[in-house]
Formats: sequence, structure tokens, C-alpha cells
Amino acid sequence: MKEPDLFEIERRNTLREKLKKHNQQYYEFNSPIISDKEYDNLLKKLEELENKFPHLRTTNSPTQKVGAPPEIIKSQKIFPHRLPMISLNNTYNPKEIYNWYERIKRALPDQNQISFVLEPKIDGSSISITYESGKFIRALTRGDGEKGEDVTENIKILNQLPETIMDLPKIFEVRGEVYMPHSIFKELNKTEHFANPRNAAAGSLKLLDYNITKKRGLKIFLYAKGYVEGNFLLETQSAFIEFLKSKKLPINNNIKTSYNIDEIIEKCQEWHKKRNVLDYDIDGMVIKVNSFSKQDQLGSTMKSPRWAVAYKFPAKQATTTIKDIVFQVARTGVITPVAKLEPVALSGVIIKRSTIHNFDELARLDIKIGDRVLIQRSGDVIPKIIKVIKEVRTGSEKIIYPPKICPVCDSSVKKSNKKVAYKCNNHLHCQAQLQGALEHFVSKKAMNIVGCGTSMIKQIIERGLVKNILDLYKLTHKDILTLKLIKDKKTKTFLANIEKSKSRSLNNLIFALGINFVGEKVGKILAKKFQNLESIQNLSFEELIKIEDIGIKTAESLTSFFKNNPMLGTNLKNLGITPSQKKQNIKNNFCKDKYFVITGTLKKYRRMDLIKEIENRGGIVNNSISKKINYLIAGDNPGSKLLKAKKLKVPILNEEKFINELN
Ligand code: IVH
Repeated sequence: MKEPDLFEIERRNTLREKLKKHNQQYYEFNSPIISDKEYDNLLKKLEELENKFPHLRTTNSPTQKVGAPPEIIKSQKIFPHRLPMISLNNTYNPKEIYNWYERIKRALPDQNQISFVLEPKIDGSSISITYESGKFIRALTRGDGEKGEDVTENIKILNQLPETIMDLPKIFEVRGEVYMPHSIFKELNKTEHFANPRNAAAGSLKLLDYNITKKRGLKIFLYAKGYVEGNFLLETQSAFIEFLKSKKLPINNNIKTSYNIDEIIEKCQEWHKKRNVLDYDIDGMVIKVNSFSKQDQLGSTMKSPRWAVAYKFPAKQATTTIKDIVFQVARTGVITPVAKLEPVALSGVIIKRSTIHNFDELARLDIKIGDRVLIQRSGDVIPKIIKVIKEVRTGSEKIIYPPKICPVCDSSVKKSNKKVAYKCNNHLHCQAQLQGALEHFVSKKAMNIVGCGTSMIKQIIERGLVKNILDLYKLTHKDILTLKLIKDKKTKTFLANIEKSKSRSLNNLIFALGINFVGEKVGKILAKKFQNLESIQNLSFEELIKIEDIGIKTAESLTSFFKNNPMLGTNLKNLGITPSQKKQNIKNNFCKDKYFVITGTLKKYRRMDLIKEIENRGGIVNNSISKKINYLIAGDNPGSKLLKAKKLKVPILNEEKFINELN
């Protein structure tokens, strides 16, 4: 056997120490400071080292154990697990799954077909539940895998597991996951600030006061057989799941069985894309050999079973360093801190910056320049800094305060009394706000002035050619030719597009003005009721709030905007911008005054066209399902909106049925 030298021993010790610290952060404090992928990389390095020099492997190596020793948490009672609670091996790509598949095929040589079960990997906190003689007697956390903490009362109070179950084996241990649904997490985090639903679930589960646990809305999925004694005839994982269901124990509904490993891999990738439709976090999929006898044949190591493997989705978390914090001025004048980051890969994208919600958030997270931070992407959402890794601070980090003057126009910055926002009130005199206002004005859903991009707007502002939206309509051919990189032909098209925009509909113009709280929807409501901008401009606050769907904030914002811009309608008119609402002669009233939501992939319509069709017929299209919605139009792969519509008994139409209704 090859002997390790001092350097290798030293390397092993460092890796061990790091892994132990991260285990403690994860299992004991529910507060990891590196991503799962980074942890797995460290573990892999240690495993490789131990494989090369088996002398270096001892029973207390982090490669041989899972979790944190429960003794550290003194508060709860500790009980041994009848069977150790081990973990799963992780794979990150199809190739690693095929490798696993080849390994088990070799270990099961006389089997020509192997059946697999594919289950979502719930990102929560694992538990072991024991029923004795049909009575729910104990719930334990994983702890260090050998012994766990007693959370029986915390689980009982959730009312999700029957107190007694008929016809169970004498001792029936079942394992699963406690998790926190997104909807509940969102609400809880308005006051509690957990980094993610997993930490929130783990923290809430172990509370000594289980009445607080009850309020936390935790849920349970059960998915694995533990120690069973007595009459038990089930032979497969799929039959076991069905059995749990028949006993009213909570199971996940997205479980699939297949003999085909390619299909299993395909499903894993499908779930990676659509995991956002679920109301809970999954961090991957678990592939299990279905037959219990084959599972026994394959066996387990100290750490993980050979008969199952996790397919982990690419890390949604990563750690990086804050290089700088800059201030960004939005179209509305609101100033937001933006962190410039040491570039880091996160679910296949290189992240270089992250917007911090506001200065309160900056202070709450205690973010400083030079800090090492954990960033996270939830679904498709832009990455957010979720916490600072204070353990690695050196003392040279630099604190950042809200600016006293606008970083763009130097005028003074005010914090509004009611809100947390810091604002530059220099409006269109501030170049950043003018840039934002013009970009919004020319955008597709507003005036749709094609060929007027960010850099073109920047140039016309810098040359003093445009100081407000009206100036756009005063630009001449000569003006534009003075800009960098603009050719004669492009100038002509650009001017033609400005001209074309004069005939945009009234709703587009209202939206284009960029009035606070006046989005596309309010634009459409106002344009439907009034003939031109001047009639809208003259409406009082009282008249505005009488209009359905226009609230106090919107009405206030509209009146104050027109008070500050009293000549807008006239000025626009003088420049030839006189849009009006085109009335359509449509007899069928199916859509009139009804609310619609659209979901899934459509075949006959493009989504934009369907929205237009409904709106031209007097209907309103909303984004989310609520009781007031009259119809959900569902295409293929409809997702969570369909479930919600069914729950609220909102009538559902497919595209064909909708088209039939119009004829
Ligand atoms: S089976 C013997 N199935 O993932 C292995 N585990 O990273 C038993 N998990 O410790 C685990 N969903 O806490 C299994 N459908 C699922 C799971 C699942 C989540 C957790 C579990 C496990 C961890 C491994």
C-alpha cells in the first residue's frame, strides 16, 4: 500500500476540518456557507485522497458519516435510529447516472431488466417516523445518522400523520422530509429572514415550543421504508408508496416508474426545467431501484445506498466576493444599490452583478465591499445575495451608506417618509431618469419606436438634443446624422418610425408616459373609457377612483402627474400625436367585461394575439388566478395555474373551446 507523505496528511487534515465545519453549518446551524456543489467537490477531493492512500481513511472521516452529532443540540431528547439514516450519492449529469447504471447492472448480472422509481428530491429536513402496533409513537430528525432528536410533538401538531393506522406491521418506520411550501415561506420571511425554505423548515421543526412549529405551516412527504418488523409483504418501492397513500400518509404525487434509464434521465431534465411549477423546493431527483430484494442485493455503504442515486440540479447557490457597490438611478428616480461581484457561475450563467432590493436590505444583510457572500437563484429569477459569510471577514471590508447626492445629476437625495426608498427628485433633469423615461417611451409595448436603442438615446441626451419625450418628435434628419455610427439610411428609418408612432393607440400612449402605478392594464382601462388624453388629464381624483380597478395610489399618481404636466395633452396634439381608441364592430359578447387568464403553450394563437383578441372584444386579461376570473384558457403543459383554477372552480377552456365561443 502506498504511504502518504506529510504533505498528503496535511491536505487530508485541512479537507477534514473544512468538511466538518461545513457539516456543522449545514446540519447544526441550518445555515450553510457554501453551495451543495462546492461541498461535494471538497468531499470528492477527500475521497480521492483516501482512495489513493487508504491509511488516511478512518471511521471518523467526513467521508464515512452524515450529519451533525445531535449531542451538540442539548434541548431535545436524543434517540437512536433502529437503522442508520444515511444519505444519497450525488450525480450532476447524465454521464454520471449512466456510470451508476452500469455499476448496478454489473452487480445484478442475472437481471436483464431493472425497474426504477423516480422521485423529486424534496429540499427540506429529513425525519424518521415510527408507528408501533399501529400507533404513531415517535418522530426523529436525522441527527448524525445514528441518533436523532425527538421532534414527536412538533410533528404531531402539524396534523398530517394519522395518530393510529390499522393493519400496520408491528414496528413500522417510515422516512421522509419536512418542508415549507413557498407560499408559506414568502409570508413567514416578511418577519423572519430565513435564507431559504429548507433552513426555515429545519429551524421550525426543532423549536422547543411546538405551538410555534404549528404556526409555521410545515408539510411532510414520506418516501422511504425504514426498520420494519412483523407482517410486511410489499416487494417494491412503488408498491410501498401506494401502500402509504392507502394509509392516508402524505406522499408526493410526481413519482414515476420506468424500466428505461434513458427515459428516467429525460424526466430528470424535464423536472429541472419545470421545477418552478411546484410550491416547494426540490434540489434534484432521486432514482431508486424498485425491487426491495434487488436493493438488498446491492446493499449500502456507511454513507449511502448503492441502489439509489440523486440527480442534483445545477447549483442555485454559489459564493463570491463583492468587488464594489454602485448606485443605480431608475426611471422613477429611486436609487438602488447594485453589488459588482467577482464573476461566478450559477446554474450555467456567469453572474457579475446583483441588485440589492433597497438600502434597508443592504443594512439588514450587513453587506460591505470586500465581503464574501452566498448568492442564490430561485427559479428563473435574477440572483440575489442571501447572506454574508461573516466568518471569513478580515476587518478590511468597507461599509456603504445611502448617497446624499444623486450619483448621476448631483442633486440632493431624499428618503421618502412612508417608504424605504431613497430618491432623486430631479425628474427629467437627471440624465438617468431621462434615459429611463425615453427607453420606456420608445419600448415595444409603449410607442414602439424601432431603432431607438440604449446607446442612441444616450447620445441624443448627451448632445442636448432631447430633454423630454416631446423633443423626440422635434428631431431632424440633420440632428441624427451628427450622432456616432448612424448612417443616412438608418436615420431615415428611425425618423419614419417616430412618425409612425404618432398613430399608436391611446392605451399605448398612456402606458408610454411612465406614470407611477400606470402599467399596461390601467392604460387599457382608461383608453377604453375615454376618447383622448385631454379628457383623462382633466379627471379629478374622485372621478378616477370611481373607475373599477383604479385604486387610491394610481389615482393619486395620475392626478399629481397631470398637475405637474398641465400642457402635455395640448403639446402632444400640436406635434401631431392624437391617438384615439379604435372602436371595433364586434357582435359576439362572450369576452365583454369578463376576466381571463392564459396559461400553457398555445397552438392556434400567439399569446400576444390572444390577449389582443380578448381585449378587442372588451375582455380583460390578468396574470394570476383568483375568484374574480371568469375563464382560464389553458394550452399544453399548463402548470400551477390550472391546479389553482380547479381549486377555485374557475371554468377552464382549451383554445378550441374558446374559438367556438367566439363564433
Ligand atoms: S431516499 C437511504 N428519497 O435527500 C436513502 N431521499 O441528499 C434514503 N430526500 O437524506 C433517502 N427527497 O433527506 C430519498 N424522494 C426522496 C428524497 C430524499 C429528499 C433527502 C433525504 C436524504 C437526502 C440525501
